[in-house]
Amino acid sequence: MEKLSSEQSETSDRVLEFDLSAELRHGIAVSNLAYALSKELGLPHEQCYDLAIAGMLHDIGKLKLRSYINGQESNPMVIEELKYVRMHSTLGYEELKDQGYSDFVLESILYHHENYDGSGYPSNLAGKEIPIGARILRVCDVFCALSQERSYRKAFDKHTVMELMIDEIKNFDLEVFLAFQRVVHASQAGK
Ligand SMILES: [Fe+2]
Repeated sequence: MEKLSSEQSETSDRVLEFDLSAELRHGIAVSNLAYALSKELGLPHEQCYDLAIAGMLHDIGKLKLRSYINGQESNPMVIEELKYVRMHSTLGYEELKDQGYSDFVLESILYHHENYDGSGYPSNLAGKEIPIGARILRVCDVFCALSQERSYRKAFDKHTVMELMIDEIKNFDLEVFLAFQRVVHASQAGK
């Protein structure tokens, strides 16, 4: 049987060690930031509120993902299939689409891993093809994830997070990113 590389097994551990409390804290952080950022961008109140909801629910598809790998953790083929982690945005959308959420909430969740340069998933949308709610969530998601401690690494400090994000600026809508910087700087100035 082929041995897993350490990188593969590390990745699988991360997914299999699904930490509900960390996921919830992440959802709350994304929700709060997405609300503040959409206000800064001047979105209508209803959309700001919708983005607070989408922020809480954006990764809910990860719960579905677990059933794909449950009990098969030692099977290298299944571990290889962990690339299906990329399915979580579509799975989340599928889970929520008949539950009364607005199209704005649903498409924000479906496309929250699309990159501005077209390199994201699930549909390789680029630029303004990506719904504004998803472009906002993309920035908030990355910022909150890097700012939060995880079981496999410490939290990055805010300055490092900003540097890491600027290195990957191709992923983000610049107008959204500049507004995001204003929100973060204003919140730090208020501390
Ligand atoms: Fe996600």
